Amino acid sequence: MIEEIENLEAEIETTEIDDSSGLEEFRLKYLSRKGQIQSLFAKIGSVPPEDRATVGKRMNQLKKLAESRYEESKAAVENREDRQFLPAEDITLPVQPAYRGSLHPLTQTLDEMKQIFLRLGFDVSAGPEIEDDFHNFTALNFPPDHPARDMQDTFFVRKDEESGSDDLVMRTHTSPVQVRLMEKARPPIRSVMPGRVYRNEAVTAKSYFQFNQMEGLYVDRRVTMGELIETLVMFARLMYGSDVRYRVRPSFFPFTEPSIEMDIWWGSCKEGQWLEILGAGMVDPDVFRAVNLDPEEVTGYAFGMGVDRIAMLRYGIDDIRTLYENDIRFLNQFSN
Ligand code: DAH
Repeated sequence: MIEEIENLEAEIETTEIDDSSGLEEFRLKYLSRKGQIQSLFAKIGSVPPEDRATVGKRMNQLKKLAESRYEESKAAVENREDRQFLPAEDITLPVQPAYRGSLHPLTQTLDEMKQIFLRLGFDVSAGPEIEDDFHNFTALNFPPDHPARDMQDTFFVRKDEESGSDDLVMRTHTSPVQVRLMEKARPPIRSVMPGRVYRNEAVTAKSYFQFNQMEGLYVDRRVTMGELIETLVMFARLMYGSDVRYRVRPSFFPFTEPSIEMDIWWGSCKEGQWLEILGAGMVDPDVFRAVNLDPEEVTGYAFGMGVDRIAMLRYGIDDIRTLYENDIRFLNQFSN
C-alpha cells in the first residue's frame, strides 16, 4: 500500500500540465470521485488495523499534494490563456482615449451670459432656492388669491405651523432675488442673479419641472425703458451674433409696468419659429414700496431670462429633457 502511494506521488509530481485539457485530464485521473486517490481511500479497510493510522496519514498527504498541483497548474494555465488575448504590442495603434470631464452646456451658456453682463457693468448675486411666500409672490405684487399666481404652478414645501409664518415654496422664478437685493442694498443697483427654479409642470420636450433663469435688475434715478431695450438687444447680439433676428412685444407681469417679452427667431427647426427667451419691464412702484424704496425717487428695469431656452437656441437642442438626463453621449458633444 505504501509503495502504491509513493508511486502515485512520484507520478503526480512529474506530470506536465500545460493547457486546460491537460488540467481536466489530471483532475479526472487523480481527483475525481472515480479517480485513483479516491479508490485508494476505498481500500483502507484491507490495511491491518495497527497500520491504518500511518497509511491514512500518507493518503491525506497524497491528496493534498494532488490538490495543490492542480490549483497551481490551473492558475498558470489561466494566466497564459488570458495573455493570448492581449493585443500585440503595436506602437502604431491609436492610444486609448482618455475621457476628461467637461462643463455642462447649461454651465457654459450661463458663463457666457454672465460674461456679457459683467462687460455691461453688472455684478452677480444669488438667493435661496426655498423661498417664503413674501419674496416669491407678495413683494412682487402678486396679491393673495390673485389669478396671476396661477401663471406659475408652485411646488409648496411646507406650511410652518409652529411659527404660523407663510408657506415655503420652491422658488418659481429668480425674481425673489431682486427683492432680497433691494432689501439690503441701496441704489444704484446693477446685478444679474442666475439660479435654478421649479414649477409643477408636465414634463415635455418644451417644459420641465426644474430649469434655470437669470434675473437682472438695474435701479437708479431716471432709468428708462429705452435703456432696458438697448441692453436686451445688446445681449442678443453678443450672444447670437450681430445678425440675430429678434422682436420685442408687450406683455404682462405683476411686478413690472409696462412689461415686455423678447423672442429670438429659431431657424434651425423645420419652418423656423419665434422662441421667447425673456420677460422684462420697468419695476412696478408697488415693488419699490414693498422694500421701502420711494418710487418718486428711483426707477428701474428688471428682466428674467430662460437659461435653458437660450442654451437650446445656442446649440440647436430641441428637447429640454436632454439637458437634465446627463446622458454621456449627449454631454460629450460639449467638451472642448
Ligand atoms: N419672473 C418671470 C417669469 O418667471 C420673468 C420675468 C419677467 C422677470 C419680467 C423679470 C421681469 O424680472 O421684469 O416668467
